[in-house]
Amino acid sequence: MTIQNDIVWHSHSIERKDREAIQAHQGCVLWFTGLSGSGKSTLANALEQVLYQYSLHRKPIRTYLLDGDNLRHGLCADLGFSETDRHENIRRVGEVAKLMVDAGLIVLTAFISPYQKDRKKIRDGFNQGQFIEIFVDTPLTICESRDPKGLYQKARRGELKQFSGIDSPYEIPSNPELHLDGTLPICELTQQILTYLQQHQIYG
Ligand code: ADX
Repeated sequence: MTIQNDIVWHSHSIERKDREAIQAHQGCVLWFTGLSGSGKSTLANALEQVLYQYSLHRKPIRTYLLDGDNLRHGLCADLGFSETDRHENIRRVGEVAKLMVDAGLIVLTAFISPYQKDRKKIRDGFNQGQFIEIFVDTPLTICESRDPKGLYQKARRGELKQFSGIDSPYEIPSNPELHLDGTLPICELTQQILTYLQQHQIYG
């Protein structure tokens, strides 16, 4: 760990509130968490599409989707699935999300993020109401039957170690802003999130 005593925070004249003032929405992070195959990425993608369509026809909403599988091709390509590596993976994602929220974006993140401690640490780094935790609650049996990448089969055969829900833990969120039933159709879940965002004046 680098000692940062000699590094001073530089304040900038243009802040998040200034950037938000020229757009139709606040910056926030929609933190999707759940098992592999729970539907996090599919749902985040569907939601981003709806927000994009809204932008085309009404007021612009700037979004960005950070996805576990994709970030592991670049920013987090040096990390595996040990507990230590997952902590670091989520720490990096949290830092990137923080920058993007500061830029005024609605950031959608789709990571298993299995540890309560990691999610809480990220939540604590945001202002009240900026971190919206969305638990995509899909039973392991359903995730396993979907098995879109064949990874559960590999894990069951012992070819893939430290697989979340099999031989690596997933800690259920204790108080998420949204607790979604991941077995419902994606369009229904998308609507539930949109309703939440409108009720909390994130956009609209
Ligand atoms: S996290 O636990 O660190 O948050 P992340 O969301 O980035 O995980 O990556 C999860 C994705 O990596 C899964 O959707 C799956 O496609 C793939 N994957 C490969 N190996 C594993 C594993 N051992 N456990 C969980 N997911 C894995």
